[in-house]
Amino acid sequence: MQQERTDRINTVSERFYLTTPIFYVNDVPHIGHAYTEVAADVLARWHRGRGDDTWLLTGTDEHGQKILRTATANDTTPQAWADKLVAEAWKPLLETLNISNDDFIRTTEERHEVNVQRFLQHLYDTGWITTGDYEGHYCVGCEEFKQPSDLVPGTGGYEGELVCAIHSRPTELVKERNYFFKLSAFQQPLLDLYEQNPTFIQPESARNEVISFVKGGLDDLSISRTTFDWGVKVPWDESHVVYVWFDALLNYITAIGYGQDDEALAARWPGVHLVGKDILRFHAVIWPAMLMAAGLEPPRGIFGHGWLLVGGEKMSKSKLTGIAPTQITDTFGTDAFRYYFMRAIAFGSDGSFSWEDIAARYEADLANGFGNLASRVTAMIGRYFDGALPAAGERTDADEAIVATARAAFEAADAAIERFAIHEAIASIWTLVDDLNGYITDQEPWALAKDESLRGRLGTVLNTAAEGLRVLAQLLHPVMPVATDTLWTTLGADAALGTLSARSLQDAGVWGLLPEGTQVSALTPLFPRVDPDAVPTTPGATQA
Ligand code: ME8
Ligand code: MG
Repeated sequence: MQQERTDRINTVSERFYLTTPIFYVNDVPHIGHAYTEVAADVLARWHRGRGDDTWLLTGTDEHGQKILRTATANDTTPQAWADKLVAEAWKPLLETLNISNDDFIRTTEERHEVNVQRFLQHLYDTGWITTGDYEGHYCVGCEEFKQPSDLVPGTGGYEGELVCAIHSRPTELVKERNYFFKLSAFQQPLLDLYEQNPTFIQPESARNEVISFVKGGLDDLSISRTTFDWGVKVPWDESHVVYVWFDALLNYITAIGYGQDDEALAARWPGVHLVGKDILRFHAVIWPAMLMAAGLEPPRGIFGHGWLLVGGEKMSKSKLTGIAPTQITDTFGTDAFRYYFMRAIAFGSDGSFSWEDIAARYEADLANGFGNLASRVTAMIGRYFDGALPAAGERTDADEAIVATARAAFEAADAAIERFAIHEAIASIWTLVDDLNGYITDQEPWALAKDESLRGRLGTVLNTAAEGLRVLAQLLHPVMPVATDTLWTTLGADAALGTLSARSLQDAGVWGLLPEGTQVSALTPLFPRVDPDAVPTTPGATQA
């Protein structure tokens, strides 16, 4: 056993700079935004755990017409509106969800605005910006010019009009003289980039969609507006403000030192962008082209996750289908929220949320599966050994099978995280929950306890089960930081092995780390029963 303790599973540690989209502050967050934050946090915590030099960035997108109009409609200034929403809604979201972001950037911060101007000036000086007349259909909800093919026939109050397919509202005809970024020059360089780096855009379906879009040809991009002034001023012509997407995308480098600190920038860039598939194209087409124009490296990759659907449609505030994250965390807790969305939806695909489904998973997986296992094992160590972890004797095949499952769980989960397959990572870890439950049922420690001559075997079984729980606490920590901390402390692991978040994930699957005699205490239920009457019903949902 001593030999195994030093036998770390070696994986190469890397630099991992991960970003979420920066969210519009026109409204409060719903569970779609929470979904992205949680996924990013699980990935970041996993990478930190395996020793990667990890940096997680999130933030808010505060310029543009959408915010300006919302502020005006609320009789306030866009800055005051943004300040209020950030303080009262967006930063509290990160607390609610237990997000371990390293930085939070707001596009109204000076460190951002000044360097957006610097970037733009550089592109202007090097000939990537021209002037032109523009006439097009602008969707303020998307903050994007739409092609006629992006519009669909309206319904209800918009019967007979063409509307934005995403926001179901009419677009506005904009006719302006403004500045253009020569995006059309990047068609071939972008196609080369996608070709040379097959994982640049993930998942595969998103990659194919982007490639065929770019193959269809790229127009130059209008990057300034003159009809309103809530934005970063174009440095050589202050009658224009920078297009909100051009401004927003730059957060990924202004936050890490672009324009101010080349060394800091070089230490983190290139990064990986996690976004919803609604905004994948901005990240996979416009953004790398902007970087190439400026002589900077494109991102390492972009992952476009699926949508949370309600009644078959993308959940959104504009369609009044938004659900506040606290509605769910107040009932089930933060860990269960994180677990549910990461486990129940294949990462990269769309998924439907229902109260019935989360309630069923909470009970089956968390309360009965994982929580009950932890309660039973710690209670038996208390009852039969006064809470002092018994030593393990010679291992039987059943014990060896648990050791093997634990090791395989780490390796499979680590490989899945590398592919952004968060749901597969959790499923791999869950094989250990299931196997341990089966092990306890088969080994019947309560029966062994009745026969004094089997006391050695009883000790081995409970030692094996406790070690299994210790492995689970480590492997599930990125997903459920609170419950696993509780379990870790209950197992006496903090006293014996240090704090959970400081442990390396690589030794999670290494066997025999908890020393004999470690003081195991009584566990408060990790996932207490939820009163079924406290769970709302989802209209149209069927029991999972
Ligand atoms: O687009 N399902 O901000 P935004 C899953 N400011 N994810 C969802 C979702 C749903 N139903 N609804 C929203 C913007 N999201 C820009 C981004 S980045 C330089 C600028 C998540 O507030 C998902 O991550 O509209 C989506 O991409 C993002 O929120 C859009 O947030
Ligand atoms: Mg949006």
